[in-house]
Amino acid sequence: MGKLALYGGTPVIQKEELPENLFHWPIVNDAMRKAQADVLETGNMSGTDISRKFEEKFAEWHGCKYALTHCNGTASLLAAMYGVVLGPGDEVICPSITYWASCTAAMGLGATVVFCDINEKDLQIDPASFEAHITPRTKAVIVVHYMAHPADMDAIMAIARKHGIKVIEDVSHAQGGHYKGKMLGTFGDVAGMSLMSGKSFAIGEGGMLLTNDLEIYRRAVRFGHYDRISQVYSPEEFKATNVIPFGGHKFRMHQVSAAIGLEQLKKYEDEIAVIDKAMKYFWNGVKDVKGIRMIYPEDPGSDKSGWYASRFGYDPEAFDGVDNITFSKALDKEAPGFTACCNFPLHKSSVYYSVDIFGHGSPTASLYLPPGTDPEKLTGELPVASTINSRLLGEPPFKHFYPELLDRYIEAVHKVAENYKELLVEKKEDSQTGNVALTKRKA
Ligand SMILES: Cc1ncc(COP(=O)(O)O)c(C=O)c1O
Repeated sequence: MGKLALYGGTPVIQKEELPENLFHWPIVNDAMRKAQADVLETGNMSGTDISRKFEEKFAEWHGCKYALTHCNGTASLLAAMYGVVLGPGDEVICPSITYWASCTAAMGLGATVVFCDINEKDLQIDPASFEAHITPRTKAVIVVHYMAHPADMDAIMAIARKHGIKVIEDVSHAQGGHYKGKMLGTFGDVAGMSLMSGKSFAIGEGGMLLTNDLEIYRRAVRFGHYDRISQVYSPEEFKATNVIPFGGHKFRMHQVSAAIGLEQLKKYEDEIAVIDKAMKYFWNGVKDVKGIRMIYPEDPGSDKSGWYASRFGYDPEAFDGVDNITFSKALDKEAPGFTACCNFPLHKSSVYYSVDIFGHGSPTASLYLPPGTDPEKLTGELPVASTINSRLLGEPPFKHFYPELLDRYIEAVHKVAENYKELLVEKKEDSQTGNVALTKRKA
């Protein structure tokens, strides 16, 4: 028997010992319960009065002129793309490491998604790679503040302005976060974000668009909010359309979500401050462990908001090649809550290159590109995005500050790091079948 719980040793802490609320999210209070019940009781689920209040408060929180609620984050991002007039023949650049909803809907507008690389240091869009992927057809860039961390907005905005490129921020992973003292979602031309249950600002299915640009706001309204068109367009501007939304979309938010959102706004910043405190306490205890590194913004005034699905760096070489998945399993057995990897690198999917999504008879991604232009070549090799999944671990998503418990998680990390040699395995290939068996190497 080894020392590690993965091989029969005694775990540092067992699941049964954990308080029920340790990882539970969102934190629900009576005001949220009442707010959602009130919407149901009054049958006001499909109105917009509560959603408008939520928009007003959300915009105020960001110091932003316009906020527009959506049924989900995907819709808000599509509306943001439509807002900046992304259309047929345009290219939109997006980091390869993100959730597909950051960019995929662009293809429905006739645009081509071109992927760029991320920085290993902070997992954010690499400004140099962004710039290297610009062509005369690049209309916009989607900047994802990935896994709660702010992207390098100074560098990105400078490149985008130099080339006349619109900036769309995807704040789905980082609501309430800052870059150099300024709220995420307020740097670019427009922002979209998911507010679904798994996110940091969690209200159920929901999305939010933010902008200071009246024309982008008006376009977003006409795209997915039929019942508000007459409030932002004059009868002359819209006379021939009979107030039918362009694109035929209906993106209205469920007002139960909006009502929860209004309550969430009152307590969210306090809650994420507690998470930040817990995570920093944990990291203070493990910062000297060789081979792992916290990913946290370096710039003053920048923070990691809500620590949504947060990841930390893992260096397999420091552990004689033990892979991150094995290491995370060992950690998780000692103290539940550790994970590994991150999103699948989108640039490896044929959806963005060769699939005829809408039945036009040729691949959607190149439909409006100049003949002979290969979208896969526009993206090219992305070395960091291609390998990052083997170099990350995920911290347990602590939602409360329980120092005694955190001490045990710290102990778990030290224990696995000190005993990692138990995790070294031998690969044995069966010469007849070619099957590979992994056997634990004797420590
Ligand atoms: C980075 C990112 N963008 C967009 C979305 C899409 O949001 P939704 O699921 O609310 O449509 C998600 C996740 O859900 C996401 O993680």
